[in-house]
Amino acid sequence: MGKVYVFDHPLIQHKLTYIRDEKTGTKEFRELVDEVAALMAYEITRELPTEEVMVKTPVTEAKSKVLSGKKLGLVPILRAGLGMTDGILKLIPAAKVGHVGLYRDPETLQPVEYYVKLPPDIEEREFIVIDPMLATGGSAVEAINSLKKRGAKNIKMMCLIAAPEGVELLNEAHPDVDIYIAGLDEKLNEKGYIVPGLGDAGDRLYGTK
Ligand code: PRP
Ligand code: URA
Repeated sequence: MGKVYVFDHPLIQHKLTYIRDEKTGTKEFRELVDEVAALMAYEITRELPTEEVMVKTPVTEAKSKVLSGKKLGLVPILRAGLGMTDGILKLIPAAKVGHVGLYRDPETLQPVEYYVKLPPDIEEREFIVIDPMLATGGSAVEAINSLKKRGAKNIKMMCLIAAPEGVELLNEAHPDVDIYIAGLDEKLNEKGYIVPGLGDAGDRLYGTK
């Protein structure tokens, strides 16, 4: 069974409150999502392997650590996942970025895939799939199906907010995938929106309706 990590860092929780607030406008919403994504990237990379190298400081030579070359791949689910990508890239600028295009059919709530482009070396790469919302979980399950079909073996899922229903579906479909979230909410409503949630993430990021 995949593990679920809720990042309860005070800065993440503070910013998440303003992300949820209906009074937060597009510009501020986008900035806050970017900042929370960077803070989550800091937490999610805690276990990355390092190796010792020698560095010559102005004073002397010293042993010091650098990341040991693990190949990382970010995979935002279009379109709302794009809102978190730059924030993560600020901390992990060398990560390659793939894209999975999915939208949720408003009637059936089933994901419809329209685009997939992934970086090379899929089998050796550690992927972080990114989407602000894990609602029914259908989109995340489908995106991860798509990655696995192409050879991905090591995948994490990063979301701002998840509903219990989405966590359960993703855990059932992909028990090898750990889930990293900032908020675990109560439930879904009859339209498949997360309650209390933040509304429609894509619309709030891009000012659409
Ligand atoms: C939203 C969200 C997720 C999906 C979550 O995207 O960004 O991708 O819904 O719902 P699920 O867990 O029930 O599948 P949407 O389909 O609205 O597309 P968008 O990002 O283009 O706005
Ligand atoms: N997609 C969103 O953007 N918000 C929700 O609450 C559910 C799905």
